[in-house]
Amino acid sequence: MKRGTRLVHSARPPYADGRRPVNPPLVRASTVDFESMAAMSAAQHPGIEGAQSFTYGVRGTPTTFALETLITELENGDGTKLYSSGLEAIAAVLLAFLRPGDHLLVVDTVYSPVRQLLERFLRERGVHFDFYSPRESDLSRLIKPATRMIYTETPGSVTMELQDIAAIAETARRHGDILVACDNTWASGFCYRPLDHGADLSIVAGTKYLGGHSDVLMGSVTASGNAFETLHETSVLLGLAVSTDDAALVLRGARTLHIRYPAHARRALAVAEWLADREEVAAVHYPPLPESPDHALWASRFDGAAGLFSVELTTAWQDRVSAFVDGLSLFGRGASWGGFESLALPCSLKGNRSVDDWSGRGPLVRLQIGLEDAEDLIADLAQALDGARG
Ligand SMILES: Cc1ncc(COP(=O)(O)O)c(C=O)c1O
Repeated sequence: MKRGTRLVHSARPPYADGRRPVNPPLVRASTVDFESMAAMSAAQHPGIEGAQSFTYGVRGTPTTFALETLITELENGDGTKLYSSGLEAIAAVLLAFLRPGDHLLVVDTVYSPVRQLLERFLRERGVHFDFYSPRESDLSRLIKPATRMIYTETPGSVTMELQDIAAIAETARRHGDILVACDNTWASGFCYRPLDHGADLSIVAGTKYLGGHSDVLMGSVTASGNAFETLHETSVLLGLAVSTDDAALVLRGARTLHIRYPAHARRALAVAEWLADREEVAAVHYPPLPESPDHALWASRFDGAAGLFSVELTTAWQDRVSAFVDGLSLFGRGASWGGFESLALPCSLKGNRSVDDWSGRGPLVRLQIGLEDAEDLIADLAQALDGARG
């Protein structure tokens, strides 16, 4: 089955008398009332056999299990756990697999709150880490005896460098028991699946394309092999749970991911190509553009693209970037991405890069291209650039 067909047909658990609502019923529950003690104890399995057993709301409901099933299929994994945000999903991965004394290699382009989590929370709990350049060609030289995980993101936040997950996973295997975790939010399991390339854990902020409508927060981690057991156990121990209503909203969004996602990409490519020709622009960081240094890797590994990229203006625009963004009328000014609406966000790399030196470069604006018509978005960008040039 093709991905779109799967998205439409997957995760429709049977309901009653063989009837199957196309949307799984929304089961809001803390408590489950069992018909007998025997039935109650039969439902309570330790370990991963209990991962989708409906025993108590904190352990999940049929609605949250349906979303887990759909994401597991999308990501080609062995199991998925849900979290109340993408950042919580990332935190859960780090807490589940790292112990005091462990060492972590983290890509320098990591989503900046993860850098904060490492520097302000995990460091004082004994986890050591080093950032590596997304352009590093030999990760093995950075691996230490205590290295337990390589944490990566492809493409990287803001500057959009791609990672060769297969090569990273191969290096990790060669050095023994090192896990590879990948933030896969840009692809959202749709056009790239890190587990197919040897990663152990794939993280998606469902807040973005899976939900797709800027009205819900969600995170997921899909694991392969034994990693799923540790992940599940950590959720049980920490009481990590998501609301049924939120899971239902994300399921509803995910049913049309295969229609929305390429529509974002078509518009993004048109806008990116137009921007690349503008004299105010030093570079457009978007792997689908043939001039991108990551284009060949993207073309060989991804079968699609998201509508998120960044534009680097020339250095002369350092003081005009706010006027440019303020001058936009169709693009909103806001965080997040993956929704139907276009957004622009100036991004400073100050404090957000430890290895690669971006100082002296022009200002960066991240653009989330929504589902408006590309010509309208281009006209909006043109008038804002003209207005800010003065
Ligand atoms: C690459 C990436 N990963 C994770 C997240 C976190 O997702 P959430 O906003 O649901 O916490 C974001 C949010 O912007 C992101 O850009």
